[in-house]
Amino acid sequence: MTETTTHEVEIDNTNRSTTPRSDQFLNYIMSDWAEGDNALPEARESAAHAAARRAALGAQFVGERLVIDAGSMKQRSNDTFYQYRAHSAFSHLTGWGADCEPGSVLVLDPLAGAGSGDAATHEATLYFRERAGRDSEEFFANPEIGEFWIGPRPSLAQVAADLGIRTAPLADFVAGDGDRTLDDADFARAASELRLVKDAYELAEMQAAVDATARGFDEVLTALGRATAERRGERVIEGVFNLRARLDGNTVGYDTIAAAGAHACTLHWIRNDGEVRNGDLLLLDAGVELDSLYTADITRTIPISGTFTPVQRRVYEAVLEAADAARAIVRPGIRFGDVHDEAMKVIERKTREWGLTPERAEGDDTPYHRRYMVHGTSHHLGLDVHDCAQARREMYLDGIIEPGMVFTIEPGLYFQPDDLTVPEEYRGIGVRIEDDIVVTEDGCVNLSAGIPRSADDVEAW
Ligand code: GLY
Ligand code: MN
Ligand code: MN
Repeated sequence: MTETTTHEVEIDNTNRSTTPRSDQFLNYIMSDWAEGDNALPEARESAAHAAARRAALGAQFVGERLVIDAGSMKQRSNDTFYQYRAHSAFSHLTGWGADCEPGSVLVLDPLAGAGSGDAATHEATLYFRERAGRDSEEFFANPEIGEFWIGPRPSLAQVAADLGIRTAPLADFVAGDGDRTLDDADFARAASELRLVKDAYELAEMQAAVDATARGFDEVLTALGRATAERRGERVIEGVFNLRARLDGNTVGYDTIAAAGAHACTLHWIRNDGEVRNGDLLLLDAGVELDSLYTADITRTIPISGTFTPVQRRVYEAVLEAADAARAIVRPGIRFGDVHDEAMKVIERKTREWGLTPERAEGDDTPYHRRYMVHGTSHHLGLDVHDCAQARREMYLDGIIEPGMVFTIEPGLYFQPDDLTVPEEYRGIGVRIEDDIVVTEDGCVNLSAGIPRSADDVEAW
């Protein structure tokens, strides 16, 4: 990446018209502008938390230079790019969210003489492309980063005040041979494990993300009539939810899954080009990502007509029972994987009682019920929808649950339309119920409990 681009690809703009560059014009466009905004903001709320996270990470890598890239713009096609989003590890360690400048780099330089156990082991510097003045051509002539093209950027001093980190021009950043970067597996693991337990700021953001998501779900329900009237009604569902995500947050935390009818049996159905028909279920799996980049991840399964059929209700209530059983065991000290095991007990029992799974011979421990739920029950949630993904198994799946952890509980049952092991009345039914849980000192709180869950409450909704 060069100093004046925000991405790493060559683009061909030979056919775009150019900006005038005569001296006469340059003098004219560079003069007679009012003084820019140089006001320094108060430090944002996340700044102190991010400082504590940097200290905790630095303590694990004493004497080493740590380089955390925010990442550059990703090309969509030629000179158009996807909406920028910083790497989650970068955001966690800086507190910079949706307003992060593309291509920024956080460097933790080791303090000379600091040893493990010292309060401070590194000094942080945030390198970014600060705004250019009206005395350079950039502001009007650079379509990628110029103020007339993409809007104003902050100054070094403004970002330093905002995030509480020393700042420097991106052009001053020099990579070193021995730098630890996120390409280094040990460093990526440490940065990921640092996010397993959320601090007070993060927990408040998670509740806010869930609350915004709840508003989006409510709005989707008011749009069901329009959805049933459109050829691609699932797009109505997606569009209405995603509008709320843009109104209350940065965007969605992952592509919205708006799956009506048998599409619900496709776990990550994001094409969303199907019809929404009365008599079918709608599985909506969606989450608002806030400007801080924290996201919710919630699923509700709704009878489009407003009433479950008896078999839809039977499946729904089995999934709800699995979710409630799993949540009931959550408290500090249990294994993360126990939550899944608890949900699976219910799924196993129900599918056996309904006569769907084969009779077991003595000693046969094949998990036949997993044919109808191939995914896991829980994953950590935070800046990433599948948060802490690089954490070691012994810290994650086999890890012990601690207060401040946030994860989903999301059992489901999916009977594919062509599954000959189930009676016809089950085929094409897919149900998932997904809630976002925070572990407390003696149990857990369901952040999404306010979104209707019981079959009766969902019908009333
Ligand atoms: N929405 C993806 C998941 O539930 O994990
Ligand atoms: Mn999930
Ligand atoms: Mn989900």
